[in-house]
Amino acid sequence: MDISNETPRHIAIIMDGNGRWANARGLPRADGHRAGAESVREAVETCRQLGVDYLTLYAFSSENWNRPKKEINALMDLLERFLREKLPEMLKQNVRFHAIGKLDALPPKCRKQIDRAITSTAENTGLNLILALSYGSREEITDAARELASKAAAGEIDPASIDNEVFSQHLYTKDIPDPDLLIRTSGELRISNFLLWQISYSEIVISPKFWPDFKNADLRAAVEEYARRHRRFGTV
Ligand code: FPP
Repeated sequence: MDISNETPRHIAIIMDGNGRWANARGLPRADGHRAGAESVREAVETCRQLGVDYLTLYAFSSENWNRPKKEINALMDLLERFLREKLPEMLKQNVRFHAIGKLDALPPKCRKQIDRAITSTAENTGLNLILALSYGSREEITDAARELASKAAAGEIDPASIDNEVFSQHLYTKDIPDPDLLIRTSGELRISNFLLWQISYSEIVISPKFWPDFKNADLRAAVEEYARRHRRFGTV
């Protein structure tokens, strides 16, 4: 089976390099995140132009809680403001917003904007924008295993019926197709606990650019590289 690639239906991005972008300019790390938020806006716009159905962005990992308090606060302020200010644009552009991760761990002001964005865009039918927040893939997988074990113990599910499909339906991404293309910026060759289950057959493109420098042309170039790949899904 050789599936020739058109536009990826789902693009997932590990947005890396905000801190180094800021350091290189003698700026505080928070300025790198602010510049990164502008690249988020641009990535959403480019995905809309390309007709991508799902864009998942790794915005805050479960490990990011170990960063200095000042940086965490700056990121949470930025997230809250981003959602508040961009909601009218999302509504106008028919973007449907989702969030995955341990959202309860986020400050109430962020949860409020997340809930508001999810609710107000629920009927939209264009690009699905998914932010991974307080997200860790191992936690997602263990949460699914725990939920399935509870259901089995309660006699609600037959353990023999647990296959890939059933397991997928217990992940945070249950109604979202797997990413076709995974992009990581800043040249690092790591997955960093992001969508471990879901990227089993994703094509991976690594960009040397720091996330704040990753613009429309860079995303289009990654999509073009994806289109040249031959996806075999384990067959010939
Ligand atoms: C990685 O760069 C980036 C993050 C940990 C956060 C991503 C956040 C944004 C792009 C901005 C805000 C997002 C939204 C949705 C408003 P890093 O800090 O790890 O960079 P480094 O590896 O160079 O230190």
